[in-house]
Amino acid sequence: MAMKMISEGAEARIYAAMIFGINAILKYRQPKRYRIRALDEAIRVRRTRIEARTLITAQGLGVKVPQIVLVGRFGIFTTRINGRTLADILGDNGAKAPAKALADSGRYLAMLHSHNIVHGDFTPANIMVSSNDAKDTYIIDFGLSSFTASAEDKALDLLLMKRSLSHNDFQVFASSYKAHCDDSDAVLERLRDIERRGRYQTRTLAV
Ligand SMILES: Nc1ncnc2c1ncn2[C@@H]1O[C@H](COP(=O)(O)OP(=O)(O)OP(=O)(O)O)[C@@H](O)[C@H]1O
Ligand SMILES: [Mg+2]
Repeated sequence: MAMKMISEGAEARIYAAMIFGINAILKYRQPKRYRIRALDEAIRVRRTRIEARTLITAQGLGVKVPQIVLVGRFGIFTTRINGRTLADILGDNGAKAPAKALADSGRYLAMLHSHNIVHGDFTPANIMVSSNDAKDTYIIDFGLSSFTASAEDKALDLLLMKRSLSHNDFQVFASSYKAHCDDSDAVLERLRDIERRGRYQTRTLAV
């Protein structure tokens, strides 16, 4: 199978791949040589499983995510989204975030949180905007996701977006989140607490 690497992240390499005639990507978690081998394998297997499980759950909730094609121990094949990340779009000089992508992301995060799924790395780099006419929004990169009712963990998903977006863009995102969340008051209250405490500054920026 001929594969071309399209991204090399902190954790994984992403390859463009054709599989079963489907235009796919392979997200393969690379070994980290500084970790003891058994521990390294356990972490990579665990994150791969978590990612696959959350992709399936999210899709069942109606959140747009890449569709799983095949899952291995350290890698997942999913459908390839023809588009760009929101981070790329924001990186263009003077580009404004598309309002649809902000509103969709707020709604999708609300749907996840309402079912106690925390993304764990909810940033514009993990939101993709398809280049088709519909400009669909997709959420990707669920390897750090978790199943929890914790208002603090949910608030951290919001905090990452707040740190990454302009004031106005965050307002568009957050008002959509509020409109679609079962219990946004507790989460937004916790977000204000976290900001007052001034915690997570180095941690969230280092993620
Ligand atoms: N299904 C997909 N279709 C098209 N491109 C994708 C897809 N999944 C990932 N990518 C591209 O690969 C990049 C990295 O993917 P992902 O965030 O899942 O991996 P990662 O190792 O966690 O990366 P990082 O450490 O940079 O966050 C994305 O920002 C996006 O550009
Ligand atoms: Mg990512």
